[in-house]
Amino acid sequence: MCGIFAYLNYLTPKSRLEVLDLLVTGLKRLEYRGYDSTGVAIDSPDSKNIVMVKRTGKVKVLEDAILEHFSGGEYSEPVMTHIGIAHTRWATHGVPCERNSHPHRSDEGNGFVVVHNGIITNYNDVKTFLAKRGYEFESDTDTEVFAKLVHHLWKTHPTYSFRELVEQAILQVEGAFAIAVKSKHFPGECVASRRSSPLLVGIKTKTRLATDHIPILYGKDDKKLTSDQDIRPHGQTRELPVLPRSDSTSEFMPLEEKEVEYFFASDASAVIEHTNRVIYLEDDDVAAVRDGTLSIHRLKKSLDDPHAREITTLKMEIQQIMKGNYDYFMQKEIFEQPDSVVNTMRGRVRFDGNAIVLGGIKDYIPEIKRCRRLMLIGCGTSYHSAVATRQLLEELTELPVMVELASDFLDRNTPIFRDDVCFFISQSGETADTLMALRYCKQRGALIVGITNTVGSSICRESHCGVHINAGPEIGVASTKAYTSQFISLVMFALVMSEDRLSLQQRRLEILQALSNLADQIREVLKLDSKVQELAKDLYQHKSLLIMGRGYNFATCLEGALKVKELTYMHSEGIMAGELKHGPLALVDGSMPVLMIVLRDPVYVKCMNALQQVTSRKGCPVIICEEGDEETKAFSSRHLEIPRTVDCLQGILTVIPMQLLSYHIAVLRGCDVDCPRNLAKSVTVE
Ligand code: AGP
Repeated sequence: MCGIFAYLNYLTPKSRLEVLDLLVTGLKRLEYRGYDSTGVAIDSPDSKNIVMVKRTGKVKVLEDAILEHFSGGEYSEPVMTHIGIAHTRWATHGVPCERNSHPHRSDEGNGFVVVHNGIITNYNDVKTFLAKRGYEFESDTDTEVFAKLVHHLWKTHPTYSFRELVEQAILQVEGAFAIAVKSKHFPGECVASRRSSPLLVGIKTKTRLATDHIPILYGKDDKKLTSDQDIRPHGQTRELPVLPRSDSTSEFMPLEEKEVEYFFASDASAVIEHTNRVIYLEDDDVAAVRDGTLSIHRLKKSLDDPHAREITTLKMEIQQIMKGNYDYFMQKEIFEQPDSVVNTMRGRVRFDGNAIVLGGIKDYIPEIKRCRRLMLIGCGTSYHSAVATRQLLEELTELPVMVELASDFLDRNTPIFRDDVCFFISQSGETADTLMALRYCKQRGALIVGITNTVGSSICRESHCGVHINAGPEIGVASTKAYTSQFISLVMFALVMSEDRLSLQQRRLEILQALSNLADQIREVLKLDSKVQELAKDLYQHKSLLIMGRGYNFATCLEGALKVKELTYMHSEGIMAGELKHGPLALVDGSMPVLMIVLRDPVYVKCMNALQQVTSRKGCPVIICEEGDEETKAFSSRHLEIPRTVDCLQGILTVIPMQLLSYHIAVLRGCDVDCPRNLAKSVTVE
């Protein structure tokens, strides 16, 4: 939800045009996070003011506007030190328009400008407080109050440093945020912070850094800082208290390099082309750059707080975030699946010795085996991966397995016990509902297992243990390769849990054997691409598509329908075939497009019943069946044949035609495949 990018060059000459180019490229990498509107802020040519450009629409619109706006020679002059901030928005407060686009400013003179990702939940209180002090608001956003609050603090506390002003401001706001702030009163400085929304700092120096960590500076007096004495009580508008300043006398100089560039970004894909050295900020960290020096501050220190933030080396490659020869990221990611599934298993599954080691959870396996129940929690596609693997988990762990949508789980205040083991499944590792559910379970003492694709994400950091699915960066908003890798991660977990169960060895061997063939079988399924494209031509003008199946393939129905909805804007429903006669059959007639998954597994006969019910109502379904299954194929002239595999892995092979189908329908309908309307990749708001 929204992408933040800021770039600070210290003693590294760059023209403003170069800075703008960097900012726009950064936004392009983050565009999947939101693409309603965009904006940038840089210094004016005389460095006395801040210039902003904002546009409704995607980054390309902003890029064109920048080319038009900044053609003058004065913008080509190199500047030694400069800070530019940029934003791509996914609207939450106020419609997408230039007025609501970030950066937001503190005053007409653009004293402070802010980019923000998240939601400031008490923005109305802060707004009332500031309005009473003469501030006028020009947008419908929650973010604008932050810029004006910093300005108010600057006026009332003129001796405060930039970092201290931002620190005081974040003490007053509630909700989720990642912010980056620039000010004409503090040229060459940048302050950034986060709470529940991701933010990292990339560091680029000419020589290797002399340190691999940045010490954290803590406030000297933390007791007074727990106050509720400020503007947070609803409706109260008294003057802000002057809170203790954190350690302002001993600025630490951790980086001795003179020339340095810093990148503040919502995620690593925006910085990897510049540097692979990053610091993932933690909640309530305040990162400030002044005179080229980065320092990290926290106002409060609790007992288990570390002394430093580590500089991490990213493993990501630039090619991974480029489209290559594909038209869309989604298309590329669908076709990457033969490799991504192997990467998920790499170093974990030994096919020769039939052994599986999941390094991230191996020490916790005895505890997990003793648990009361397993809970699998996620949203959207990640939730579907839990649905897809529940039956196998029940079979191989012999434990009760609950599968939960994170939002509903929280709404119900679901009872959680200390001996529960809760899995949080999330591609991004930042989904707000999933993260909230994680914290809820952690507070209640459950063991927290993260299943994520994003190293350094909040869910990774807040889990007790976990599995990185290693699918590689997924940029298309529609999740594809992450789903199949989440699926495999959970299958591997089930295999680990059943390692010492004699009665299950035959079953385990059968699954391991199937896993070893999976990449080749996915390649086979991908060869259906042109056939699926033809099918899409039959379907793309329809309003609806019903997808039916049961057993191990019910998850494919749900996931297929989600893909169709989000990419094509057609109505689509994943229907449990066993429920057909309890209602959905009424939808079926000769004109309703239906797709049915009928494979040779324990529910085959039941699926055939459903198929007969559909055809006897004049339905003419597209059938996904096993290669050479003439009996099933006889029910329809349109079928997609997939290779035979073990029942519990069928869902990996059946979901791929659904990914391809939704992709092709979206292209035929002229939809923006990688950026479906109203959506964003990483949903960091509840
Ligand atoms: C899938 O195509 C969606 N874009 C969406 O359902 C996604 O899976 C969901 O928002 C959860 O995201 P996460 O895996 O990053 O937590």
